[in-house]
Amino acid sequence: MKKKALALLLGICMITMTACGSTSSQTSGEASAPAAQDGAAEEGGADDVSGAEEDQAPAAGSAVAGVVWYNFADTFISNARQTLINIGAADGTITITDADSTNDVSTQTSNMNNFFTQGVDYLVLNNINTGAISEICDQIQAEGCYGIFANTDTPSDEDFAKNDKLYSVSSVATQSGTIMGEALAQYWQEHPEADRNGNGKLDYVMLLGIQGHYDTTVRSQYSVQALEDAGIEVNNIGGEIICDYSRATAQEKVAALLANYSDEIDAVIACNDDMALGAIEALKAGGFFSGDDTYLPVCGVDATVNGCQAIKDGTMLVTALNNPVMLAKSIYKVMYLTNSGQEVTTESMGLEGVSVEGHRVWLDYSPVTKDNVDQATYDINDTAF
Ligand code: BGC
Repeated sequence: MKKKALALLLGICMITMTACGSTSSQTSGEASAPAAQDGAAEEGGADDVSGAEEDQAPAAGSAVAGVVWYNFADTFISNARQTLINIGAADGTITITDADSTNDVSTQTSNMNNFFTQGVDYLVLNNINTGAISEICDQIQAEGCYGIFANTDTPSDEDFAKNDKLYSVSSVATQSGTIMGEALAQYWQEHPEADRNGNGKLDYVMLLGIQGHYDTTVRSQYSVQALEDAGIEVNNIGGEIICDYSRATAQEKVAALLANYSDEIDAVIACNDDMALGAIEALKAGGFFSGDDTYLPVCGVDATVNGCQAIKDGTMLVTALNNPVMLAKSIYKVMYLTNSGQEVTTESMGLEGVSVEGHRVWLDYSPVTKDNVDQATYDINDTAF
């Protein structure tokens, strides 16, 4: 870590008489404790962020990471965030400090700038400013720190070519779209009654996350593509329904849609479990899932605890395991390897379902249905990397 910035950071810590770890809340635009939602661990939190001893400089060979998450309140992000905090605390090589962009681009920018001012060694960015990726890459390069784009659109080949210290870590979103589409195609083919209005088309509602976000774009495209590849004629009801990955927004929008299309809708495809769960709530209120002939296939992504419960309850048809623990481990491992001068390769990462292409680290999804839901588990207290 740069010396001047370290002195500044330590100074702040001493003045506030708190552990450096609590910069989690100091740097945040709108700080909040880890949401620990959806069955995530109740332990830990902002005070546990640092792996370093209070008021002590990080040990030789250690480094500081500033992690900018798009929204602490997001279920998937809260699990990834807490796992990263836990790994940093357990390992102690990389001190994790983090900040919440509260789904707001200007807050993201000020969080990044705060970390640059502090002279962090690693800037981990769960970017929502998707129109400015190259500019952000240039800024990271000018600051001279490592940049890791996490769970978001990856920088371009040109961006990577300019800067050896740039990485991305993300799941292969195409897989999650295909998993939803293939499961829905199979259901449709096995259940002729699924064509509720008998028009010969699969009339689906598509619930999108943040506009322009890689996962949303790719999951929506590939799910529909898988249906079409199975020879199914599809019809989109309601157009592009943007719900920002939020359960409450999805519930509201699906409820509004049911007022006009209750008899037309054959399926709901949601770009994450939270939105699928919101849709299920609205569908229940609209009379679905209440007995014979009231089932409607709903697809999601993530395999959150509540998502898996919905699979067990029979309200969600399929989800794709998007493992937040693996995301956190991968982010940490990239920092750990580069910090000790090692190359980042599939072998050196050594994590199941994680592969490396250049400076892009990709994580695999796997399908979760009622047949294997009991195996779809992860532990945010698992700190082995
Ligand atoms: C997850 C969503 C989450 C989003 C946030 C996606 O990978 O599947 O649940 O809301 O990331 O960026």
